[in-house]
Amino acid sequence: MYETKMLAADEAGIAEAAALLRRGEVAGMPTETVYGLAADALNSSAVEKIFIAKGRPQDNPLIVHIADFGMLDGLVRDIPELAYKCAEAFWPGPLTMILPKTDRIPLTTSGGLDTVGIRMPSNKTARALIKAAGVPLAAPSANLSGSPSPTKAAHVFSDMNGRIPCIIDDGSCAVGVESTVIAFEGSAIRLLRPGFVSADELREISGEVIIDKGVTEAVANDAKAASPGMKYKHYAPKAEITIIDAGTAAFIGYCSSKAAADDVLMVFDESEAQGLRQRCIAYGKTDEEQARRLFDVLRQLDEIGAKKVYARCPSKDGVGLAVYNRLLRAAAFRVIKL
Ligand code: TXA
Ligand code: MG
Repeated sequence: MYETKMLAADEAGIAEAAALLRRGEVAGMPTETVYGLAADALNSSAVEKIFIAKGRPQDNPLIVHIADFGMLDGLVRDIPELAYKCAEAFWPGPLTMILPKTDRIPLTTSGGLDTVGIRMPSNKTARALIKAAGVPLAAPSANLSGSPSPTKAAHVFSDMNGRIPCIIDDGSCAVGVESTVIAFEGSAIRLLRPGFVSADELREISGEVIIDKGVTEAVANDAKAASPGMKYKHYAPKAEITIIDAGTAAFIGYCSSKAAADDVLMVFDESEAQGLRQRCIAYGKTDEEQARRLFDVLRQLDEIGAKKVYARCPSKDGVGLAVYNRLLRAAAFRVIKL
């Protein structure tokens, strides 16, 4: 058991967290996407503590975070030309690239794979922390395995209190959904997990962008997923969510005839649901706003004890695809198309 300390995102807070990281401990770290649970990526026993704190399956690999290009040296090999182009276009920022790893990255970090996901975050505190620790930091999202990813320090505290020594509080995450994860296949880019860097933006780097089946479909538990994280239960609140893929009028029509009085509606904007008797929670009018708020709203559903939820369907374009991908998993792939 740890006494979990909240640290300020200032020089003293960063120095304290960095000292813990250098001693092989775990720290809650803000990034522009979601909060991460960081440890020295090169220290196998430190990384093991991440898996224990999260209750994460050991074959689910971690993303390694670097602060500058110099840190890439010796971590990965055979870097394709396309990867340099992507790094130039999107780093620092919410893009993770899967690359062949060297022996410096322990198998604990890579979940037993011979590849590793690398990302250079843009959040200033994250970058300062990586630099102060002086090592690349392995960091999955800082939620308990299966819960919505944390976009506020309070979310991390609620899942990790007693399980880790510290959390740096840097306010709400700017993006709100996890990074875009890609792999390279010859001249093509395979999109394994959609994020703020969209398929269209990737298409400007390579004309061939393959959207992996796992982005919008359930991956069988025994299947060998291109991205192991996709086969696990994710983002699931206690409520049973159903996505209603329909326009505003059809959504309202469906809810007024099918939803019970104590069901909860996840709408884009409060004004949409006037006249409906159910409680409504708005999660945003634009794709970006939905991305920022989705995980907080999923946690709110638990707080209010929602049992059945009907949610409006995100756009599936741009960042909307990332919102759809997360909401699909939260809804266990229940979608009604009207
Ligand atoms: O934005 C983010 O990426 C956040 C912040 C903290 O940086 N991190 C994050 O990590 O979302 P995590 O562990 O929650 O999700 C990592 C995803 C998982 O689905 C995992 O399976 C996949 O990336 N992944 C990591 N390494 C991989 C690899 N070598 N091959 C295929 N997929 C990989
Ligand atoms: Mg995660």
